[in-house]
Amino acid sequence: MKAVFDLINTVAPTDVPVLIRGESGTGKELVANALHNLSERKDKPFIKINCAAIPENLLESELFGHEKGAFTGAVQARKGKFEAADGGTIFFDEIGDMPLSLQAKLLRVLEDQEITRLGGYKSIKVDVRTIFATAKDLKEAIKEGTFREDLFYRINVVPIHLPPLRERGEDITALIEHFLKIFSQKYGKQGLDISPDAYKSLLAYDYPGNVRELKNAIERAVLLSTGSHIHVTHLPSVFRKMAEDLPCISEDLPLEEGVKCYERQRILKALEQTKGKKIEAAAKLGISRKVLWKKLKELNIDI
Ligand SMILES: Nc1ncnc2c1ncn2[C@@H]1O[C@H](COP(=O)(O)OP(=O)(O)OP(=O)(O)O)[C@@H](O)[C@H]1O
Ligand SMILES: [Mg+2]
Repeated sequence: MKAVFDLINTVAPTDVPVLIRGESGTGKELVANALHNLSERKDKPFIKINCAAIPENLLESELFGHEKGAFTGAVQARKGKFEAADGGTIFFDEIGDMPLSLQAKLLRVLEDQEITRLGGYKSIKVDVRTIFATAKDLKEAIKEGTFREDLFYRINVVPIHLPPLRERGEDITALIEHFLKIFSQKYGKQGLDISPDAYKSLLAYDYPGNVRELKNAIERAVLLSTGSHIHVTHLPSVFRKMAEDLPCISEDLPLEEGVKCYERQRILKALEQTKGKKIEAAAKLGISRKVLWKKLKELNIDI
């Protein structure tokens, strides 16, 4: 994240186009917002357009506006997003979903910095900074013929890639702390912390929904928690499964951690098989009841 923040700080004050790539939930919109808010255009409009959400026939007039009578139903002239964003920033979300026919027009506008409203004849100068985001692989789309190569080179001046959260171990820890702070404040539960088991599950999960999924999981856990700790049971069930599947034999774990991890698994399993009866579980494990108690405490297993 630090590398991305540095890049944002460097390019935000300039007017170069930025293309943000990343899976759903990695923070593309957040980066686009930051680029605008850290620029000199921050007091001017930030206009967002989702190219995937607007039908092809409406997108053109949304972008460039139209004159009165340009098409059936155009009873009044209307400004498009480009004119609305004049002086500010325009953010094209899901640019990979823009129809080919419009891509050519967009390219021309980006090159000339002027637009013509639908049904109009005069060119209108616009001063906009452009930011683009996509979850799609645009190089692949070019090969498939659904994205124009010339447009790609025009918008890919500064690429910002947001890797999936599962590849950003250190970010996960930082984000857990961040969201815990935010939501425990929001819900008046200051001082709330995360039990070692819950923390492990959070670190081991692969986050197909990326930061959005982590954020939602922490908010939910803060809401559900009743005491001063967040436990595995406060996390969505997909996280609980991760806790059970942690590989203790991984060579990445220091020996002592690996041994603890294995002990924890055996003890949890014995407790599960004996439906929580500690005397029976201890017998199953071939240890005394006293040793089991000690280990439960050491390993922070709260049954
Ligand atoms: N580095 C971060 N710090 C704090 N919050 C973050 C961070 N990255 C993402 N988020 C949060 O995660 C959520 C998803 O982020 P965002 O909407 O920007 O993702 P996206 O890449 O645009 O997703 P999609 O492709 O689904 O539109 C938002 O609530 C955002 O605030
Ligand atoms: Mg988005």
